[in-house]
Amino acid sequence: MTFRIVQLTDLHVFRDPDALLKGVPPFRFLELVIHQLQQLTPQPDALIITGDHTHDELPESYTAVRSLLTPWLDRLWQVPGNHDDRAVLRTVFQDRISGTADQPIQFDFEAAGWLCLGLDTHVPGAVAGSLSAAQVDQIRSRLQTSSASRCAVFMHHPPVLLNSVWMDAIGLAGRELLAELCTAEPRIQLICCGHVHHEFHGQLASAAVRTTPSTGIQFAPDSETPKFVPGCPGFRIIDLTPGGYTTEIQRISTPSIPITH
Ligand SMILES: [Fe+2]
Repeated sequence: MTFRIVQLTDLHVFRDPDALLKGVPPFRFLELVIHQLQQLTPQPDALIITGDHTHDELPESYTAVRSLLTPWLDRLWQVPGNHDDRAVLRTVFQDRISGTADQPIQFDFEAAGWLCLGLDTHVPGAVAGSLSAAQVDQIRSRLQTSSASRCAVFMHHPPVLLNSVWMDAIGLAGRELLAELCTAEPRIQLICCGHVHHEFHGQLASAAVRTTPSTGIQFAPDSETPKFVPGCPGFRIIDLTPGGYTTEIQRISTPSIPITH
């Protein structure tokens, strides 16, 4: 039995579908990503978005994102990024997200012997993220009641340093709390994140930490200051089985885009 998850992250869509972010059209790139997603065999059993649904945080932009996700609305799971407004996200996706107003947006489900958890690291008005002791206690409690033999976590901000001056400066406060939990709980084997707009591999105790390219603009991983590069958009495929997982990035070929800084 295989349970296929596709992770999309950092969509950064604007209300105007042709608006550009540093020379890149996020909505048009998302359309290309969605087209490639529709060609996947097998199709995803779950679609997880790890934040930054929009860049302008307007209801019309979330509605535009939703319109492209129509085929997967019945298996869609979401957490917010720094470029999200919880109340607006919750209103536009009210059939998928419970709670009210600015309450954290998180999820959990079990499949193929795995417990899959979504963590909300959004801090209103901030670019960096935060994880609280209460959230980590919630995960601990959820694991205690779960018979799943493995656990995957999905969150916007990576819980590890990337050895990048500017990316680490907008990283995750409270990551040591998750590190302690991962050390005590080896069932947590995979943590998939966004925020840094490029592919990165790290490790947190027994958990592999994987970041995923944006569906839009890409960041240069080796720059000491924010730098955008004309990389191809992408998404992550994760195939969970009772015995483990495999994961890969798929990229989309795009026309040459002039990047502006
Ligand atoms: Fe982002």
